[in-house]
Amino acid sequence: MKGIILAGGAGTRLYPATLAANKQLLAVYDKPMIYYPLSVLMTAGLRDILIISSPEALPAYRRLFGDGAALGLNMAYAEQPRPDGLAQAFLIGERFLEGGPGALILGDNLFFGAGMTELLARARRRSIGATVFAYEVEDPTAYGVVEMGPDGRALGIEEKPAKPRSNLAVTGLYFYDQEVCALARTLTPSARGELEITDLNRLYLEAGRLHVERLGRGYAWLDTGAHDSLLEAAEFVRALQKRQGVYIACLEEIAFHQGFIDRDQLRARGEALKASDYGRYLLRLADAARA
Ligand code: TTP
Repeated sequence: MKGIILAGGAGTRLYPATLAANKQLLAVYDKPMIYYPLSVLMTAGLRDILIISSPEALPAYRRLFGDGAALGLNMAYAEQPRPDGLAQAFLIGERFLEGGPGALILGDNLFFGAGMTELLARARRRSIGATVFAYEVEDPTAYGVVEMGPDGRALGIEEKPAKPRSNLAVTGLYFYDQEVCALARTLTPSARGELEITDLNRLYLEAGRLHVERLGRGYAWLDTGAHDSLLEAAEFVRALQKRQGVYIACLEEIAFHQGFIDRDQLRARGEALKASDYGRYLLRLADAARA
């Protein structure tokens, strides 16, 4: 399975911070925002990653990750000329996926929780249908909202409903089988002019092939799209990292644990970044690892 990160968008809620900078390059505490969604795809074991962003921002992502080799990844890049909707990722990414299944994550979504690894492995193992993750929020009107039956099956899914049928927001992480690009091609723009991921998910639901995994209270799903929520996310990361001495979304650490890079590569990255706490953390990991 391959992974796509959608890192375009207008970022209007973060103006003026995003007038000249792409949102997903802004820092969440100590690392670029895009590290967090990339860490999720890597934790799922995915090594072929496509970053989709605006034509202006794409060169910065190329500078950040290059061909991906430093993380043991194969990194590809594609332009989204305008933010015409999340489902457009599967039109832009069709060649990249080569007819296979794909996971999509939004570049501004931050997930954290001890059970993530198993949850991701389960979603990845499903060879038929789609998997989305639902998270209970106080005000779901800004999200896709899923209604669940007593047996845990999805009954309906709506985009930004004025009168939501549940408090379960659909998060920005989606796993799809190999039908996804063909289904995405059948979508038409919504009233707001976007190819809606909710419409794509509804096609799976109507075919009886939408799996909804609930992220319970042991998980954090943080929004980084507005000034206060961005600062709160940074404080969350800082508090956990300081308290536990363990980093969230340390890409080299994940790459090392997944066997994508070896100890020498881990150490080389640490050396290159050692003016920062992040770099010194990598050096400590390399020291602690058996040769
Ligand atoms: P949004 O938060 O819906 O939009 P935005 O990032 O443009 O921000 P704002 O509402 O402040 O203007 O986007 C969710 C994520 O998806 C975000 O990471 C940007 C990304 N995105 C794209 O890459 N392309 C798109 O066409 C859309 C709609 C979003």
